[in-house]
Amino acid sequence: MEARKPVIIGSLSLAALFICIWLFSHPDISIEAELPETQEAIDRGEYLVIAGGCISCHRGTENEETLSGGFGIETDFGTFYAPNITPDIETGIGKWDAHDFLLALQHGRTPSGNYYYPAFPYRAYAGLKEQDVLDIGAYLMSLEPVYYQVQLPETPMWLTRWVVMGWNMLANFSQGEPEMFDDELIARGAYLARNLGHCGECHTPRNGLGIPDASREYAGAVLGEETIEAIDAEALKQWTANNFDLFLLMGMKPDGEFVGGDMNDVIEHNTSKLTDEDRDALAAYFTRNN
Ligand code: HEC
Ligand code: HEC
Repeated sequence: MEARKPVIIGSLSLAALFICIWLFSHPDISIEAELPETQEAIDRGEYLVIAGGCISCHRGTENEETLSGGFGIETDFGTFYAPNITPDIETGIGKWDAHDFLLALQHGRTPSGNYYYPAFPYRAYAGLKEQDVLDIGAYLMSLEPVYYQVQLPETPMWLTRWVVMGWNMLANFSQGEPEMFDDELIARGAYLARNLGHCGECHTPRNGLGIPDASREYAGAVLGEETIEAIDAEALKQWTANNFDLFLLMGMKPDGEFVGGDMNDVIEHNTSKLTDEDRDALAAYFTRNN
């Protein structure tokens, strides 16, 4: 009996430590934030959902035209099903308010304060402007609710949502400060690439824990069986801004070859539908060293 005491004390202090960390890491979100209701905000939100690539993951497996989810994202750490993000009360996000959207997209936290798995690219979305998140929320809440229950993630036993708390801390620690740009067009391109379009989620290599290596942004990666090309300055040396523009519009590379794999989806649902200005911004950002 006696020998167990240190174990019990040890576990209790560990639990206390976790509770402290949880309390300290509770994100600070402005309570005044409200979802806008104007048509203008809803239209902006619709565009941001396109630029954010949300459709690639959240489009319905039963009904492609809706964001009712069900699509399985396979990773080295299990399969994660994109939830139903239509405003259905029972199976979707019908009860969400501004606070819930800010918590989810900027902090990767569920309405009850739990942790989302990073298969949801919330670390990229963390840099979104508050107004952009609220407009996205306004658009999602304006959609027709779809009743569709998405299945729970299939993860190894040890991978609980609490493990993600530790993962986020490690990822924060290794993140570094991204380079900032004075040029307005390039800065807009950086926002579209790093945050909304989350290009680095696929194109930046990850370490064994699945944390992107910030010091090798866009240096290429392996995702499951797929090899994803580098799109850093070195890899794009021969690309002009026009080449890049055309690629984002129709997936054609400078050598006339068409891109395949998951990138097709990115072109179809995201970059081909951007405004010309935003495609120019992405092109300016990626070819800024040429
Ligand atoms: C790479 C795939 C992917 C992309 C892109 C993506 N999501 Fe998700 N999203 C997920 C997954 C997977 C989850 C669930 C994570 C979990 O179970 O912890 C999720 C969760 C969510 C949730 C929480 C839903 C709930 O019921 O708790 C919201 C809201 C959401 N995403 C909105 C968005 C928006 C808005 C965008 C675009 C700006 C987006 N997502 C882009 C995969 C994605
Ligand atoms: C869901 C993962 C994913 C995301 C997100 C993604 N890509 Fe890709 N990308 C790929 C894959 C996979 C390929 C290789 C496809 C192939 O085999 O043809 C690729 C190829 C490319 C290529 C061609 C490279 C070459 O030299 O052949 C470019 C350029 C590119 N992506 C740019 C982007 C940009 C810009 C973004 C953000 C707006 C982005 N990608 C977001 C997966 C992704």
